[in-house]
Amino acid sequence: MQVVLLGGGGFIGSHLAEWLLRRGRHEVIATDINHEKVRHLLDHNRFTYFDSDIHTDTALTRQLLESADVVVNLVAVATPKTYTLNPMHVFELDFLDNLRVAQQCTDMNKRLIQFSTCEIYGPTWLSLVPQDLRTPDFMARADITQSEETTAMITGPIHETRWIYATSKHLLERVIHAMGFQQGLDYSIIRPFNFVGPRFDFLPSDKKDESPRMFAQFMDALLRSGRISLVDGGLAQRCYTYIDDAVEAIGRVIEDTSGVTSRQAFNIGNPRNEASVAEFADLMIEIYKERYWDGVAGLPEVVSVPGKEFFGPGYADCDRRIPDISKARELLGWEPSWDLRGLIGETMDSFVREFRSRHRDSDAPVAIGSRS
Ligand code: UGA
Repeated sequence: MQVVLLGGGGFIGSHLAEWLLRRGRHEVIATDINHEKVRHLLDHNRFTYFDSDIHTDTALTRQLLESADVVVNLVAVATPKTYTLNPMHVFELDFLDNLRVAQQCTDMNKRLIQFSTCEIYGPTWLSLVPQDLRTPDFMARADITQSEETTAMITGPIHETRWIYATSKHLLERVIHAMGFQQGLDYSIIRPFNFVGPRFDFLPSDKKDESPRMFAQFMDALLRSGRISLVDGGLAQRCYTYIDDAVEAIGRVIEDTSGVTSRQAFNIGNPRNEASVAEFADLMIEIYKERYWDGVAGLPEVVSVPGKEFFGPGYADCDRRIPDISKARELLGWEPSWDLRGLIGETMDSFVREFRSRHRDSDAPVAIGSRS
């Protein structure tokens, strides 16, 4: 198959490209605005890459879509700070530019695998229930698992600009569903639940004007003896998924020729790996101390900061996100296997190796910041 990965140079795209190339039977064509994460694939004889922005390079995008058997669209801003501070950019890229690709796929009769987000579910319904109504009996029966088929989507008031991302993706999913329903588009939707792994985002100290997601923030603090900021006390909970588990599921959707995944949305996540942000930080510090710490360099200071201070006034958060993955289990025969400790350790290893190689002192202690 000729698989076109739009946004194929990012964290997920780079792992997906590796997975597809390992299968040995696909041509992979990827585009992105930066090729750092696929540099190691550039010489592969079945991998072609273009530095290209779907927002401006519409002619190239169209040309690539024409040649594709399957189009995988991963293009999106996916960092909450950008949602709160630059919501127009998020709407233009994550909705308008993605919509154009979906329309072209419909016109050209191409199969589209569209990346969406677990964030379209928003906060859980339970977060709207006042504390005094949450009796033990009520809580025992409260099911907050998020299902593609039954869960309603919740967002907040308009001044909470964070929700521009979830609502853009939500509307995109609805329009793609309608294109399938009325115009015959063959599509599948992927809703990732906090994938983590090598090449995740970037260290914030390397890009001062951008803000990556949690794992990279905490990793930077560990590597540089900095500060771990627990937003609003780190009480929010997520289910974390190792990237190898995730691409195994996504790869099965891409390779499906039976039609069983057609016009379906899939939660891809690991419901067994739920942790609060504070617990996740503790686990990262614990693993870091076991494996990399020299016992001398300063460990990060852990502080609680208000979300509106850390991300901007339009910030709001999702309390919990637990995927119901019964559809992926049933239709893809898929089961995630990496546990929390395993996925943190593996990802941390890759960050430490990369950091050490960049600083050319692989035998030295990793933390190079001030001593506590
Ligand atoms: C982001 C995207 O918005 C989702 O669409 C995407 O699906 C998801 O990442 C993902 O990785 O799959 P979110 O989980 O909120 O959503 O992103 P993070 O920035 O990783 O935040 C996770 C939690 O950690 C939030 O509660 C946030 O407030 C907290 N956080 C983040 C901190 O406490 N400290 C930090 O330094 C960064």
